[in-house]
Amino acid sequence: MNNKLRVGIIGGGLMGREAASAFARWFVLNNFPVQVELTAVCDLQPSLIDWFRQIPTVRLFTQDHHQLLASSEVDVVYVAVPHNLHEAIYLDVLTAGKDLLAEKPFGIDLAAARRIRDAAAASGRFVRCSSEFPFLPGVQRVIEWARSGAMGKPLEVRSCFWHASDLDSTKPVNWKRQVRTCGAIGVMGDLGMHVVHVPFRLGWFPNRVYAQLQKIYHERPDGKGGTAPCDTWDNAMLHTEAVIQGIETPMRLEMKRLAPGATNTWSIEILGTDGGMRYSTAEPKTLWRFDRSKEQWWSRTDLGFQTPFPTITGGIFEPGFPDCFLQMWAAFAAERAGALGDRFGCVTPDEAVRSHEVFEAALASHASRTAVIPG
Ligand SMILES: NC(=O)c1ccc[n+]([C@@H]2O[C@H](COP(=O)([O-])OP(=O)(O)OC[C@H]3O[C@@H](n4cnc5c(N)ncnc54)[C@H](O)[C@@H]3O)[C@@H](O)[C@H]2O)c1
Repeated sequence: MNNKLRVGIIGGGLMGREAASAFARWFVLNNFPVQVELTAVCDLQPSLIDWFRQIPTVRLFTQDHHQLLASSEVDVVYVAVPHNLHEAIYLDVLTAGKDLLAEKPFGIDLAAARRIRDAAAASGRFVRCSSEFPFLPGVQRVIEWARSGAMGKPLEVRSCFWHASDLDSTKPVNWKRQVRTCGAIGVMGDLGMHVVHVPFRLGWFPNRVYAQLQKIYHERPDGKGGTAPCDTWDNAMLHTEAVIQGIETPMRLEMKRLAPGATNTWSIEILGTDGGMRYSTAEPKTLWRFDRSKEQWWSRTDLGFQTPFPTITGGIFEPGFPDCFLQMWAAFAAERAGALGDRFGCVTPDEAVRSHEVFEAALASHASRTAVIPG
């Protein structure tokens, strides 16, 4: 395996540029076995392509993703485009013989996700899906603790991702608010992969789903003086059950665009008879741990910068979104190079398909007002 990862980006919007910024800071990783080079960029918007001209390693700028995929200087492609384009572009990447870091939700619906998963398996290419929060030090500690058995008998799991900016009804519509481009699963497609990644990797899969889905705003300004339909789900509360240590355990998955006060708040709480843990990006340094003996108590630990892949950053400094996004890319590069070891890995195609099975069950549950078995 060549120790240089030559990346092409298709979709240079919010996340395409975030990826470019992670690559530009790659040297923060200490003794990391793989170097990264962003060589090619594709977007439909010339102004976004121009933004990438400040990056000296980028040699190919194009509005046609086929041209990027024909480049012999691209080994891995990061695709960050609207959900209705996932399937066609992901399949083109695989046909071109490139590896893929796909953005979530890995296709606009379950059928698309299955076709992508099958094509990935048939191609033999290395394919993973994006989900960065597990790479924060606090989340790593929760995962380590959950695996240790310290919780005793499981009582309850709650995994959440909340946004609030949509509370403003004057916020203009965009492709993430319309079924045609975002998908019928709505907010679950936007935020859902982030809430299932940790539970799935711990082996906790919902075997029954009762969903409450909310659509509060049905239209929004179109940004051109008129209004446009806003037909996706705003909030999704999935009351599920997962078998943990052989015990059917309530597991609540919350995905919300209308969560008062929450800017990009990802959180997880796991409770058991002997212990518990709680972590939220709202307090990125803070880890809450429950213990009991004669008395019971929650203790608070001030965390530092103990990321899965060591960095030159001071051990007492605070981590944030750009850090976990870079660590996710490091996990992708390390796993592709066979150097992940026992570290946490990116979402696999099978896990991505399972997430869609849960979201499809949620749609069916809400429609029938009954609990539905995913799959
Ligand atoms: N991992 C995360 O935390 C995270 C956060 C936000 C979005 N996302 C995901 O990333 C993806 C993109 O979201 P975004 O917020 O960056 O959206 P965005 O709208 O900011 O960017 C999408 C870009 O794709 C470009 N595009 C559209 N069609 C194209 C084509 N045919 N060829 C090339 N470029 C094309 C658009 O011009 C735009 O610049 C989605 O799948 C979304 O769910 C992930």
